[in-house]
Amino acid sequence: HKVLVLHGPNLNLLGTRQPEIYGRETLADIDRDLREQAARAGWELACRQSNHEGELIDAIHAARLDGTAAIIINPAAYTHTSVAILDALNAFDGKVIEVHLSNVHKREAFRHHSYVSLRADGVIAGLGSQGYHAALEALITAG
Ligand code: DQA
Repeated sequence: HKVLVLHGPNLNLLGTRQPEIYGRETLADIDRDLREQAARAGWELACRQSNHEGELIDAIHAARLDGTAAIIINPAAYTHTSVAILDALNAFDGKVIEVHLSNVHKREAFRHHSYVSLRADGVIAGLGSQGYHAALEALITAG
């Protein structure tokens, strides 16, 4: 089984970006722990981060062709704006889990709407980096 973890814009700054909201762990820390969790289950896991909407879309297209069974995606600010990422995910046949580090529902009103949630099989928000691990655990348990 193969999982793609996709991180959207500004998540490369994790650890130093508003740590009171997003925590002190870096993206490299999170990706390393996810890779270890996947390996323990005998799963393959690839991680990508991009600040560019089109690159995230290209990564989703590639996942349609390379045997990726599921995508865990934190689209970051594109969550709230990107019909194009929603369309790309709608063209992907596997499972999709949307993750947000912060609880977007207790923040500004513009963060309450997610285009990606129209496609996601599951949504996790507010658990910090644990949200990615919960998403991966759910995929592994479901097989
Ligand atoms: C985020 C929440 C988004 O509203 C925000 O734009 C982000 C990160 C989160 O993980 O909490 O960049 O997706």
